[in-house]
Amino acid sequence: MVVFRLFSVVLLACQAALTYGASVEPAVTFPDLYEASVVELQAGLQKRQFTSVDLVKAYFARIDEVNLQGPMLRAVLEKSPSALAQAAALDLERALKGPRGPLHGIPVLLKDNIATIAIEGLNTTAGSFSLLNSIVPGDSTIAAKLRAAGAIILGMHNNLLTICEGKANLSEWAHFRGNIASGWSGRGGQCTNPYFPNADPCGSSSGSGVSAAIGLAAVTLGSETDGSITCPSSNNNVVGIKPTVGLVSRSRVIPISPNQDTVGPIVRSVSDAAAVLNVIAGKDPADNFTLAQPAVLPDYTKALNKNAMKGKRIGVPRRAFLNDTITGNDPSVNVAFEAALNVMRSLGATVVDPADLPSADEIVVSNNETIVLDVDFKVALNAYIAALLRVPTGVRNLADIIAFDDAHPAEEEPTGFEDQSELIESQATTGKNATYFAALAADHDLGRTRGIDAALKQFKLDALVLPAPGLTTVPAAIAGYPIVTVPLGFYPANVTIGSAGPETVYPAPGVPFGLSFFSTAFSEFELIGLAFAYEQATQTRLKRKAFPAAIPTTQLKDVVGKF
Ligand SMILES: *[C@@H]1O[C@H](CO)[C@@H](O)[C@H](O)[C@H]1NC(C)=O
Ligand SMILES: *[C@@H]1O[C@H](CO)[C@@H](O)[C@H](O)[C@H]1NC(C)=O
Ligand SMILES: *[C@@H]1O[C@H](CO)[C@@H](O)[C@H](O)[C@H]1NC(C)=O
Ligand SMILES: *[C@@H]1O[C@H](CO)[C@@H](O)[C@H](O)[C@H]1NC(C)=O
Ligand SMILES: *[C@@H]1O[C@H](CO)[C@@H](O)[C@H](O)[C@H]1NC(C)=O
Ligand SMILES: *[C@@H]1O[C@H](CO)[C@@H](O)[C@H](O)[C@H]1NC(C)=O
Ligand SMILES: *[C@@H]1O[C@H](CO)[C@@H](O)[C@H](O)[C@H]1NC(C)=O
Repeated sequence: MVVFRLFSVVLLACQAALTYGASVEPAVTFPDLYEASVVELQAGLQKRQFTSVDLVKAYFARIDEVNLQGPMLRAVLEKSPSALAQAAALDLERALKGPRGPLHGIPVLLKDNIATIAIEGLNTTAGSFSLLNSIVPGDSTIAAKLRAAGAIILGMHNNLLTICEGKANLSEWAHFRGNIASGWSGRGGQCTNPYFPNADPCGSSSGSGVSAAIGLAAVTLGSETDGSITCPSSNNNVVGIKPTVGLVSRSRVIPISPNQDTVGPIVRSVSDAAAVLNVIAGKDPADNFTLAQPAVLPDYTKALNKNAMKGKRIGVPRRAFLNDTITGNDPSVNVAFEAALNVMRSLGATVVDPADLPSADEIVVSNNETIVLDVDFKVALNAYIAALLRVPTGVRNLADIIAFDDAHPAEEEPTGFEDQSELIESQATTGKNATYFAALAADHDLGRTRGIDAALKQFKLDALVLPAPGLTTVPAAIAGYPIVTVPLGFYPANVTIGSAGPETVYPAPGVPFGLSFFSTAFSEFELIGLAFAYEQATQTRLKRKAFPAAIPTTQLKDVVGKF
């Protein structure tokens, strides 16, 4: 009897708990989509707390809140009409067979130069009206690899034919339409930074940087020729990996230069970046640069070791690259950088300072990069367009694109965004002649032999480090070498606000800037370890959020269980 009564009490208590749980608060706490990591989202999906359909709905709502209304960040060009169907299929597959891997059911945004198969409904235009509704022959290798890993292509963002790379308005360095503000494209308009109204998001993967910063997708992918992954990562308080040219396939990615282009993750943490790199790295017969990569690639998530700095020698190539007269950097960047060197020392690294690149003075005045890119762009873009199955605007090559822009000034050359001098300069080139090959050889000599590799060897270094703003990307760009960028700091309240274009400012109070680790070819594993150790010790990303209007409010709790 006593036993029975006790049992009833327990039973009643259980029922009460169940009723309480159902009618008041759900027992689960959903990850905050502003910060959620791939691992957290995967865990929630596995525990059936939410589905990939829920994730797509939530991210779409977050995009809608800030993209073309409110702060009008213009980070996302298109949402995929088939993302919800992809998500539903992947949810079903998870239920039946379990996840394919860490990216199963994870929504990913791609830069608008990474081709996705036409039947899916997304355009691939590099931000230009000239390629609208063009039919690509198939997925880019990157998109195919992401799909095979179970990722959901959420949409596309941003531009390429209008890129302005590196720091805003450093026009000498590889920006490829002309002297146009960073983050602008004909189709997308001016993308802006979520940390200060109308601040420069940096380009050309600006939409990736902004979307990662405020959680408009779980993962974003950008591409870099010179600065286009690392600079938007720097300006938006996120992590970017610019892989070695040849680690990741560029097949069916709208090109600038096969010698310098590379595709990589722009995400909120080094861990997420490593997980994405695992999926996209690898050989591809359709991109012969990838055939030079090591036979076996490491599991990059194995590099995520908090003690990775211990015993490492990290060089500071001060000459030219930390000279504000040359870089144009605000002094506050150097203050944060010197503090970062102390963090590295405290983590057990030997900071070798200075560890100059022998070629430093030559790199910052060299015009060899422009010569190479001008020739490469015309050849590679014309080949890309020739392979398209259909181009409704009728453009067949670079000359046609220049004419298209001139014929559609309202779309492609509005006031303040008229310049296309780089396109014209590239169009004037006549192919790969002796001048081109000499410039390419000079780039390899400056960037590799007498640049990064010389410093690594001379000072017995594991890696080099610099603040991301300035000319930091150039040696690695002309060498084809990797860079990993993590958050370093924020411009102070009293920084002098500068102009970055007709509609944008830079620097500005609270706008983030990053720290870049770089080294020789295929050193990503090493760089990821160093960046992770620094990130974990500092957690700079968490020290400041976007301005309030730029923080979307939709969360998983708003979509889970709703129809
Ligand atoms: C692609 O561009 C066409 C033409 O503007 C448009 O109708 C279509 O909606 C675009 N696709 C997406 C997914 O936005
Ligand atoms: C890739 O192929 C092109 C064209 O066949 C050739 O010119 C180039 O040298 C090759 N590059 C590499 C890195 O193998
Ligand atoms: C910085 O660069 C300027 C311009 O090239 C040069 O005049 C100056 O001496 C450099 N400063 C240092 C400390 O090297
Ligand atoms: C290319 O680099 C070499 C080595 O520094 C230099 O001598 C040459 O002037 C550079 N060419 C151009 C066009 O800048
Ligand atoms: C190579 O072509 C460029 C134009 O693209 C021209 O300026 C240069 O003189 C040419 N070089 C040689 C060696 O013919
Ligand atoms: C901003 O404030 C800091 C710290 O008080 C000071 O060192 C710096 O000179 C100031 N900068 C400007 C541009 O006023
Ligand atoms: C870049 O700087 C030049 C020279 O100061 C200026 O004429 C031009 O308008 C600037 N461009 C942008 C996009 O701000």
